[in-house]
Amino acid sequence: MIKKNVQDALNNQIMEEFNSAYLYLAMAADFEEKKLKGFSTWMKAQAGEEMIHAMKLYNFVNDRDGKVELQGLDKPQATWKDPLEAFKSAYNHEQYITGCFNDLIKRAREEIDTATEIMLQWFVMEQVEEEAAAGEIVQKLEMMGGSKEGLYLLDQELGTRTLPSPGLAVAGGAEGE
Ligand code: FEO
Repeated sequence: MIKKNVQDALNNQIMEEFNSAYLYLAMAADFEEKKLKGFSTWMKAQAGEEMIHAMKLYNFVNDRDGKVELQGLDKPQATWKDPLEAFKSAYNHEQYITGCFNDLIKRAREEIDTATEIMLQWFVMEQVEEEAAAGEIVQKLEMMGGSKEGLYLLDQELGTRTLPSPGLAVAGGAEGE
């Protein structure tokens, strides 16, 4: 059975993951309004990934005989000046989430909760990818320097990202990697 303070920390991280989904969905909606369909598709896929992350934690707490207690979500920002500002914000957010996982691992180690520590290692590696993905788009946008043609081409490229299946979010399995 999971210790109460580890359970509370994981419940808090479930909230962080849904907050991430909410933030990226808000960015998707903003891109949608600005007719940047590809950017919007990318952000909707990212929101789906975050729900899968939340469900992985949700299922783990249940598997350890813990109690999932959902917390309230933050109201996300609704508009961003341009895609560069949005992706810089996404990149900073991912760095914040990486810090959350590092703190969680520290907590699990202090409690000698090896199962939680091993489960969290998946997220640590996932965060390397998450930061790299957002960071790469920031770099591309900076290179483009406001070119409309560049924006059009990047919108086409980002639109090829596929949305995770809603079923994966419910199952919360490793398929969501
Ligand atoms: Fe679930 Fe993007 O971190």
